[in-house]
Amino acid sequence: MSESQDVLWMRPTLWIYIPKAPHWIPMDEVKVAFDAGASEYDTQRRWIIPDIEAFYGAAVWAAAWPGEAPSILDIGAGTGLLSALLLQRYPKASITLLDNSEKMLEIAKKRFAGRSGMQFMVADYRHESLPRKYDLITSALSIHHLDREEKYALYQRIFGALNPGGIFVNAEEVKGESAWQQERNFAYWDAFVNDSPLPVGKKAEILGRRDRLDQEERLSVQMGWLTEIGFADVDVVYKNRSFAVFTGRR
Ligand SMILES: C[S@@+](CC[C@H](N)C(=O)[O-])C[C@H]1O[C@@H](n2cnc3c(N)ncnc32)[C@H](O)[C@@H]1O
Repeated sequence: MSESQDVLWMRPTLWIYIPKAPHWIPMDEVKVAFDAGASEYDTQRRWIIPDIEAFYGAAVWAAAWPGEAPSILDIGAGTGLLSALLLQRYPKASITLLDNSEKMLEIAKKRFAGRSGMQFMVADYRHESLPRKYDLITSALSIHHLDREEKYALYQRIFGALNPGGIFVNAEEVKGESAWQQERNFAYWDAFVNDSPLPVGKKAEILGRRDRLDQEERLSVQMGWLTEIGFADVDVVYKNRSFAVFTGRR
């Protein structure tokens, strides 16, 4: 391997290199990774997220709105896994799926083909101003790709984009509260992925990408931020090692 190349991932029989590009920031790599993995995303999820039904189920439960037809913004919506569950709960809802990976949103468009009340927005939510107001703003497994300042700024814009009484739900990968807990949480997660029927190279790719691209923050810190920004009823409705669903209300 020459010095001008980085190993992006390895399979037993295939090495893929990407040229070193010092001007790249990790977020570009996040987009490249999701564009590249879009077609296999849905089928692999249950082997990557422990207790996946309970995790997403808690997110849908937390998205409590008194009316039948809330307006929803799903941030980092990807192929629409969380959006689909929200629409099962609120069949009359209107929903905007925002994501910066065209490939992930293409799959979401196929998933929801023919349904009215759908909007798809290709955008980077670090820079998107979120000018409209929504009753529910949700996100699953996405915001951990941002650094601390970007997370805080996004939470502020989310607060500003909620209608009164509107709820933010973040189903997220979070950092352990201590280094010891973080190590144990990742050991649990590694074992879950390594026990899955995924090919060996795929397991290494998934865990390697997590270690390289994820910027987890402690749950206690993020809940503190939500409170500081002005959210009420800030709470955790689900937690399993690295996976948490937390929420706040405007
Ligand atoms: C792990 S997927 C989660 C998708 C979906 N929410 C789910 O639960 O299956 C993370 C998604 O966040 C998107 N994403 C990451 N950073 C983003 C950003 N700055 N702006 C918009 N989308 C982003 C990725 O493209 C990807 O589709």
